[in-house]
This record gives sequence, C-alpha cells and structure tokens, in this order.
Amino acid sequence: MTSIKQTSGGGNAVEVRGLVKHYGPTKALDGVDLDVRQGTVLGVLGPNGAGKTTLVRVLSTLIRPDAGSARVAGYDVLTQPRQLRRVIGLTGQYASVDEKLSGRENLYMIGRLLDLSRKDAKGRADEMLERFSLTDAAKRPAGQYSGGMRRRLDLAASMIGRPSVLYLDEPTTGLDPRTRNEVWEEVQRMVADGATVLLTTQYMEEAEQLADELTVFDRGRVIAEGRVEELKAKVGGRTLQIRPAARGDLRAMADTLSRSGLDGVGGAVVDEAEGLVNVAIISDEQLTAIVGLLGERSFRIAGISTHLPSLDEVFLAITGQKASAPADDDTASGTPSGSASDETLEEVAA
Ligand SMILES: Nc1ncnc2c1ncn2[C@@H]1O[C@H](COP(=O)(O)OP(=O)(O)O)[C@@H](O)[C@H]1O
Ligand SMILES: [Mg+2]
Repeated sequence: MTSIKQTSGGGNAVEVRGLVKHYGPTKALDGVDLDVRQGTVLGVLGPNGAGKTTLVRVLSTLIRPDAGSARVAGYDVLTQPRQLRRVIGLTGQYASVDEKLSGRENLYMIGRLLDLSRKDAKGRADEMLERFSLTDAAKRPAGQYSGGMRRRLDLAASMIGRPSVLYLDEPTTGLDPRTRNEVWEEVQRMVADGATVLLTTQYMEEAEQLADELTVFDRGRVIAEGRVEELKAKVGGRTLQIRPAARGDLRAMADTLSRSGLDGVGGAVVDEAEGLVNVAIISDEQLTAIVGLLGERSFRIAGISTHLPSLDEVFLAITGQKASAPADDDTASGTPSGSASDETLEEVAA
C-alpha cells in the first residue's frame, strides 16, 4: 500500500490515492485519486451508483478500502481512524437521527458522545438549534419533523463537534426547492466559517452553487475534474447570443460574422424562433471584436449575452450518457463523445 506525505497547514484536507473498493463483482471504487484543498468545497458529481457514498464511507472510516490510501486532516483512514473521526462531520442519506428523541435531545446526545461536558453539550445543542432555525421545534420528537427539518437537524448534528472536514452526501436529494435553498445557505455558512467540505451530489446546479472544484464520478472512476468554470469551458467554450434590434437583420448579421474571418470565432447560426444570432467564442477579446465589427457595419444590437454549457451538458459530453441515468446498462463509458450539444440555449437576459 502506498503512503502519502503528511499534509501541513494550507495544503490538502483530504488526499485520496488509488482507492479501490469492490462489492463482489461491483467495482464501487475503481482506483480513485482526489484532493480537497483546505477551506474549499469539492463537489463529487455523479449518477446513482457511481460510488459517491462508498467514497464518503471510506473517508469516514465506516468501511475499509480493498486497496489504496486516504488521509483526512493528516490522519490515515486505516491506521488513525480514531483521530480521524474526531475531526470530521458526516451528514447524508443514511444519517442517524433518533426519531423518538426530540431535536434537542438528539443534538445533546451527540455532543455527549463526542465527550463534551453536560453543560457544553447543552450549550452547543441550543446554539445549533438556533442556527438551523429549529429552536421552536426543539422539544418535538424528530419523527414528527418535516423532510426539510430533518435535513437541517442532520446538518446541525454533523456540526456539533466543530468538525474541520465535513462530508455532505447528497444533502438535498429529495428536497423541495425552497428547503434546498435553505440547506445551501447553511452549507455556505459552514464554508465561510472555515470548514473544508466534500459534497456529493447528482445535481449540477448544486455543484455549481457550492463547489470550488468538481470531480465527476462514473462507475467508481474519476472521469473529469477541475474548476467548475474550467469543466464547462472544456466542453466547447461559450455561446455568444446577439439580438439584433431589427429582426430583418438576423441573416445579414450572421453572414457578416461568418465571413468576418475573426480569429477563434465559430460560424454564426440564426435562431429564427428566438430572434437571435448564436456564435461560438473562446475569449472575451472575441466578444469585443464581434461587437466592434457589428458596430462598424452599422448593425443595431438590442441585446447580447454569453452562455456557458450547463453541467448536464458537460456530463453528457464526458460520459455520453445523462447524469441522472442509473449506471446499470452495459454501454461503454469514459470516452468523450465529441462535442457538447450546441442546441441547448438558455434564455437571453433582456
Ligand atoms: N454494501 C454494499 N453491498 C453491495 N454493493 C454495494 C454496497 N454498497 C454499494 N454497493 C454498490 O456499489 C456501487 C456504488 O454505490 P454507491 O457508492 O452507493 O453509489 P452512489 O452513492 O454514487 O449512488 C453501486 O453499484 C452499489 O450498488
Ligand atoms: Mg450515494
């Protein structure tokens, strides 16, 4: 088994190398490498069955990997599990909230399990209840909580021990949009407070909202990684959308751009229905050059915007399958399937 250098301050809070975990014939983790820099959020994005929860369970010392190594806050998952558990917080699909106990009792219990004194456990429980807007429901059994309240109690529980590294395993799966936004706000506060977060999600929007960097999982493997913007840019740059003031100018404008010979500017395409001319561009300079050229040729522009591919498009481009599809078919994956769709265009901001 390979060993990793001990991390020191400012480095990686999580370091994973060559992690393998098999369940019979299923390769839940098939040689995973990843790093989470201290104080940042790494989004682990992948469809059902990609291996996200298995990763979180290994990093929480709940299961042992078959091969590879992992360190969290400098502690080795295999040789220093006890120290490791003391610095992590875990919340996820299978979180253990006792339904019969009240929200407050649940949090108090966890504080006591973490060796806090009675007084400190009480104080910390109240603090977390307040923070997660559960003070009014503090005395009610958790079994009577709504889905959103349960999720907030789960987050509160993971925060009791002031963890430096938090695992959030699909924290908003199954939540309605309003509750999901509440959870996002809480996560953002945790990060602002200095926590390092490993967040698994099936939602592109969630990764985009919360993550600094992204690792895309498919069938136990990392198939792409990078900053959110980088990943998007990789899949075909941006589309510049121009709305001429006069609809009659659509064709002429597109022709002008297509024949412009501007460096790095793709062919212009007319979208009659939307009244837009779409042009693929790579840099801001091209945007300026295009606007300049249209001005020179006396075209009047009513609106202009740029559009990055959505993460759904990114996933589709990388894997050749939709991110939401369960990974249970036998289609070969991991091969980039050419370019991203250039048909999916979002609304132009007025
Ligand atoms: N305890 C287990 N026993 C057998 N197979 C498992 C077990 N846990 C996970 N798996 C399998 O490993 C793969 C990865 O699962 P998981 O890590 O839960 O994926 P994700 O969290 O991304 O949905 C899946 O094919 C799943 O069926
Ligand atoms: Mg999971």
